[in-house]
Amino acid sequence: MKQEIIFCLSGTGNSLYAAKMLGTEICGIAREIKKENRHYRAERIGIVCPTYEFDVPEIVKEFIRTSTFETEYLYVIATYGMHHGGLAERLAAFMKECGRPAAYINTVLMADNALPVFNMDDQRDTNVSKHVDEQLSAIAADIAEKKHFIQPSPKEETDFYLGYLKHPLGFTWSDDNPLYTVSDACIGCGTCERICPMKCIEMKDGHPEHSYGACLMCLACIQACPKKAIRFASIHEQNPEARYRNENITLNDLFRLNQ
Ligand SMILES: Cc1cc2nc3c(=O)[nH]c(=O)nc-3n(C[C@H](O)[C@H](O)[C@H](O)COP(=O)(O)O)c2cc1C
Ligand code: SF4
Ligand code: SF4
Repeated sequence: MKQEIIFCLSGTGNSLYAAKMLGTEICGIAREIKKENRHYRAERIGIVCPTYEFDVPEIVKEFIRTSTFETEYLYVIATYGMHHGGLAERLAAFMKECGRPAAYINTVLMADNALPVFNMDDQRDTNVSKHVDEQLSAIAADIAEKKHFIQPSPKEETDFYLGYLKHPLGFTWSDDNPLYTVSDACIGCGTCERICPMKCIEMKDGHPEHSYGACLMCLACIQACPKKAIRFASIHEQNPEARYRNENITLNDLFRLNQ
């Protein structure tokens, strides 16, 4: 039996960095989920992904619900930038309900890549001040000893989450209501097409065309464009000139994960 498999989703590299700190056999969730009859067998199986609106992304829940895991130790690590909102306890309940109980769920505070809320020039260096490596070392030690733990939600995190439910950001997008526009600054390099985990972007005559049916708003395309040619169509962002990718992760790392 394999020792470890880690399944990962990552738009800007934080979750991929976390996954790399926890193991070496890393598979992209967006690619994996397209396979039929997914049955995975390993001593430890991990899922590492970003937090979106105080939850793991829908595609990650779908992957958990529709895969079978033959393992002694199933764990989930969610990276987040400001508030996890008590994600771990809710996810534990979800996983138990769908018959895939987790032994361990924890979160890692990292740079926040949410362009509508944060200026990436301010976020870029926060992986050091947020002590990311120390958090990951502690989690790696827990996982090595197969510790059982579901991160409890402090009251302020639960309150933050409940407050958000009353006033959600409520972003929506579709082909009729596109998330992005692409400016004349585009040089047709195809980075956005290659980095999109959901295959939502197709280069046509040297120009990217988005389709939004499967878009996660993971921000991989807008953050990675070397010309900052991708902009939100109607969402305000803090600094359209600042973009983020985890400093330890290359574009090729993300292409390999997401292609
Ligand atoms: C659509 C969206 C929603 C987000 N929601 C949250 C959130 O609820 N709480 C939080 O702390 N960070 C939130 N973030 C920040 C990311 O979870 C965080 O930066 C994460 O580490 C990014 O991981 P990645 O680089 O692997 O994509 C959000 C980011 C995006 C793009
Ligand atoms: S990444 Fe930017 S410059 Fe490259 S094709 Fe996409 S929009 Fe154009
Ligand atoms: S099109 Fe959507 S899913 Fe694809 S990279 Fe951009 S934000 Fe992510």
